[in-house]
Amino acid sequence: MMARAIYIFLIFCVPTYLMANEEIPTEPNCEACRTACRDGRDGRDGIAGRDGRDGVPGACLGENGEKGYDGPPGSCVERKVYQCTWDSSNDDTDMGIIHQCNATKLSNTTGLLVRWSGSLRNRGDQVCNRWFVTFNGTECLIPALIDAQLYSGGDGNSFGPATIEGICYALPRGEVQIELRVGSCLYYSLGDSLTGWDSVSRMIIEEETEEPGVVSSPILSSMLE
Ligand SMILES: *[C@@H]1O[C@H](CO)[C@@H](O)[C@H](O)[C@H]1NC(C)=O
Ligand SMILES: *[C@@H]1O[C@H](CO)[C@@H](O)[C@H](O)[C@H]1NC(C)=O
Ligand SMILES: *[C@@H]1O[C@H](CO)[C@@H](O)[C@H](O)[C@H]1NC(C)=O
Repeated sequence: MMARAIYIFLIFCVPTYLMANEEIPTEPNCEACRTACRDGRDGRDGIAGRDGRDGVPGACLGENGEKGYDGPPGSCVERKVYQCTWDSSNDDTDMGIIHQCNATKLSNTTGLLVRWSGSLRNRGDQVCNRWFVTFNGTECLIPALIDAQLYSGGDGNSFGPATIEGICYALPRGEVQIELRVGSCLYYSLGDSLTGWDSVSRMIIEEETEEPGVVSSPILSSMLE
């Protein structure tokens, strides 16, 4: 019985299955092509695509940083400028005070710039006079004197413009009497001087900010340390 059944299966079912498979090709055109044509050449590369649109802005924010440290206190001192003028002082003092101008220093640590300008003469044979600036009657030592001197070798009576100028440190705050004085030089006798001949002399006083930019004096360097 069993052998007969297998026989019937082989005779009827297997060929039917094979025939049915041949009659339904999955790709009929390609099947035909493969026998009649050769493969075509490879196509050329396509044109490059266009740039894409910009993306949407990101929504990611960093966290806030920590608060910074407080800065150091500012060193800006209120600045005041003084000016005194003398028209035609024609002062023939050879030794003593010529001009006086007062100023008020606001800080102990600032410098005081003093500038005197005017006309000077010194007459005599081998004589020398020195003009110098004083603060409350004392000359500046920090960093140096503020002075100028004029020597005369003959009996010339010629006048010249002069500027006597400097910045003085280590003066306490408060009122200061600043004076231009005249006197003798070292090693020479006093001449016949005249200050402010027929023209304007002026003294300009400015309080300078805290730190001197260049300190070339060893005395001043040690004072400011
Ligand atoms: C400067 O101050 C002194 C003392 O207060 C005073 O005697 C003098 O007249 C003042 N000088 C000027 C030019 O104001
Ligand atoms: C300024 O200096 C004077 C004396 O040199 C002192 O008595 C005074 O306390 C100082 N003032 C300040 C604000 O440092
Ligand atoms: C100048 O004298 C006045 C009055 O005596 C004083 O207050 C001031 O501190 C003095 N200034 C200087 C630079 O000596």
